[in-house]
Amino acid sequence: MSKKTIRDIDLSGKRVFVRCDFNVPMDENQNITDNRRIVAAIPTIKYLIEQGCKIVLSSHLGRPKGEFKKEFSLAPVAVELSKQLGQEVLMAKDVIGEDAKRLAENLQPGQVMLLENVRFHKEETDNDPEFAKQLANFGEVFVNDAFGTAHRAHASTEGVAHYLPAVSGFLIEKELKFLGETLENPERPFVSILGGSKVSDKIAVIDSLLEKVDVLLIGGGMAYTFFKALGYSVGNSICEDDKIDLAKELMEKAKAKNVKMLLPIDNKLGKEFSANTETMVVDRDSIPEGWEGLDIGPKTIELYTEELKKAKTVIWNGTVGVAEFDLFATGTNSLAKVLSELDATTIIGGGDTAAAVQKAGLADKMTHVSTGGGASLEFLEGKKLPGIECLIDK
Ligand code: 3PG
Repeated sequence: MSKKTIRDIDLSGKRVFVRCDFNVPMDENQNITDNRRIVAAIPTIKYLIEQGCKIVLSSHLGRPKGEFKKEFSLAPVAVELSKQLGQEVLMAKDVIGEDAKRLAENLQPGQVMLLENVRFHKEETDNDPEFAKQLANFGEVFVNDAFGTAHRAHASTEGVAHYLPAVSGFLIEKELKFLGETLENPERPFVSILGGSKVSDKIAVIDSLLEKVDVLLIGGGMAYTFFKALGYSVGNSICEDDKIDLAKELMEKAKAKNVKMLLPIDNKLGKEFSANTETMVVDRDSIPEGWEGLDIGPKTIELYTEELKKAKTVIWNGTVGVAEFDLFATGTNSLAKVLSELDATTIIGGGDTAAAVQKAGLADKMTHVSTGGGASLEFLEGKKLPGIECLIDK
């Protein structure tokens, strides 16, 4: 799937409408708590500045459901963007209103402005053609660099491509390179770590990875559904009883495909699902009633480390424990440390896993940390993403 990028067309002096994913986490005072998505957009914006473009940036933030809500304003993003770019980013008071139009008309070559949260209009998520046309009026070219929102067919991610020539920015290009090309032709052994709480959320991705990987390391809450499928008691651990047959099928499939699928051999249990609770470590066949598994145990960390040390390509999606509680982040942090020291291509599939690796201070040590949560999951499942499909083929 090769799509044209901003390098492939003449952009000099043009007005460009650029969709980014600036949906960044903020605290209650609208301070940005993780700026990775903003930093990731900088190479594209800098390139457009060098081309003398007049740059209109657009994004959503949260889910304001079609009305103006101050707490969903992108104003703090404009401040952070200005800091990262080293030049002022003008902040519009609206999306397609008078203020945005006035600022856009007065843009000089190399100047950058940011529209207000595009989801202040419900027409955005409806992918309303009239609204998309109004957004398209801001540019002569549509540049999509919002990988994190590429799984949404919204007016600013897909609709505008019906009215403007559409190409990708450098971030989407990079995401497609690592989540696409690298995983299609991986250097082997190719190992995947899959975590997260539910098997049901990961069925499609497990199915898709079983076609590609040599080793699959399972962690997180979903391990307990597999445990039950093997006949172990799981105490109060999260378990999808209606997915036990499916877990059995997936294990059979792995065997048939010659994929080494490993489950945790021990677990750190908590008395309660809480950041401060009594804990103990037990083998997987000894989980007592009244306790729940919240992290992988030390023997599993050792076992998984041995597999990872042989890997030449690793893709990781889903934390292997409740990483937001320090008490149950040991497994996730230990595996992140192992990955950070490997002589291999290491790809972190976004969302919670990316946040955990960032929190551990190891994001810079990975080959690629995806900026997509739901988008990278859907991409890894092999789904077509509308925000990418709408771009011009190379
Ligand atoms: C994300 O954070 O996953 C993207 O920005 C998409 O947000 P959404 O799930 O609200 O569409």
